[in-house]
Amino acid sequence: MSRYLVTGGAGFIGSNFVHQVLATTDHQVTVLDALTYAGNKDSLAGLLGDRLTFVQGDIADAGLVEDLVAGADVVVHFAAESHNDNSLRDPSPFIRTNLVGTFTLLEACRRHDVRLHHISTDEVYGDLELDDPAKFTPDTPYRPSSPYSASKAGSDHLVRAWVRSFGVAATLSNCSNNYGPYQHVEKFIPRQITNILDGGRPKLYGAGVNVRDWIHVEDHNAAVLAIIERGRIGQTYLIGADGEKDNRTVIETILRLMGRPADAYDHVADRSGHDLRYAIDSSKLRDELGWQPAYRDFEAGLAATIAWYEAHEAWWRPQKAAVEAGYAARGQ
Ligand code: NAD
Ligand code: DAU
Repeated sequence: MSRYLVTGGAGFIGSNFVHQVLATTDHQVTVLDALTYAGNKDSLAGLLGDRLTFVQGDIADAGLVEDLVAGADVVVHFAAESHNDNSLRDPSPFIRTNLVGTFTLLEACRRHDVRLHHISTDEVYGDLELDDPAKFTPDTPYRPSSPYSASKAGSDHLVRAWVRSFGVAATLSNCSNNYGPYQHVEKFIPRQITNILDGGRPKLYGAGVNVRDWIHVEDHNAAVLAIIERGRIGQTYLIGADGEKDNRTVIETILRLMGRPADAYDHVADRSGHDLRYAIDSSKLRDELGWQPAYRDFEAGLAATIAWYEAHEAWWRPQKAAVEAGYAARGQ
């Protein structure tokens, strides 16, 4: 049994991680989450109790972080500002949380000799051409495009420096686009599903040729657990499930699965600096740690995700109007 401190455990991937840890291990979990607009305690409903404690607070609050890290065996660091579009409007919270917050956790882990796993993104590598057979590997040079991805790239560099210079026992993972339950309605897939449930239309940025490499959130989190349990300290593992799809195809699939005509969507203004394509080579993770994705059928995973949003309107409804008003103001 270990004591896990999970930062960002009320967000999309972090809350799914807490569900998975409580269901598949005997670890004790403390969630540290600031409950920003993206955090939702309801994502942990029914779990709080003997094995799960919730602390509302900021990862950049050094005093609070010091006490919590001192009482942990492993820090699993999901907390971040995570949405590219928001980072184009106001980068400042991205700098504070993703850089200063990660620095604060690293200093506490260094002082208390606590193991850290840092969750990051494939976006640190920039983008690939559509017709390029290449995929991102752990050796791909960093080339982030947005304030979000630049702040995540910076946080990765901080973790590596604290490993090398101070001997912090950390691992890193860079994952591709996740989908599944409890994802905020600002993100691509939940936005389109909830637009349709609301009687509206999906919104496609630009021509929709941009490619994302989709992975189910449970597969991401199973990989994170494998890295914590069996990964080599100081190493970076790329997490991906060979799920490349262009955005137009994803929207058309959602429309079909929800019984609507495949062309019942709107083209809206493109994202500034929009990355073209992401693709992950996860062979290091598969070969070294024996991880394999369980969700191999994207359409089946998408259908289950649609069913989850249909059944959990009370979870997403409070955020929907404000998110859509923000997009509409930017012509998206
Ligand atoms: P999210 O936005 O859904 O959740 C982020 C959580 O962090 C929220 O609960 C929020 O309240 C919390 N938080 C934000 N600032 C905080 C602060 N200063 N102190 C404490 N808590 C704070 O994000 P997500 O999609 O679940 O992403 C989680 C992590 O995974 C991020 O580090 C992100 O970069 C990374 N990631 C995400 C994806 C993806 O597809 N969503 C893919 C690869 C990597
Ligand atoms: O690759 C990993 C990253 O995936 C994570 O690091 C980020 O935290 C996560 O948000 C995600 O970033 P993206 O920018 O790829 O995800 P988003 O859901 O914002 O958009 C996915 C694609 O869909 C992208 O090409 C933009 C497009 N899009 C998005 C929205 C919200 C649309 O076409 N229409 C939309 O309404």
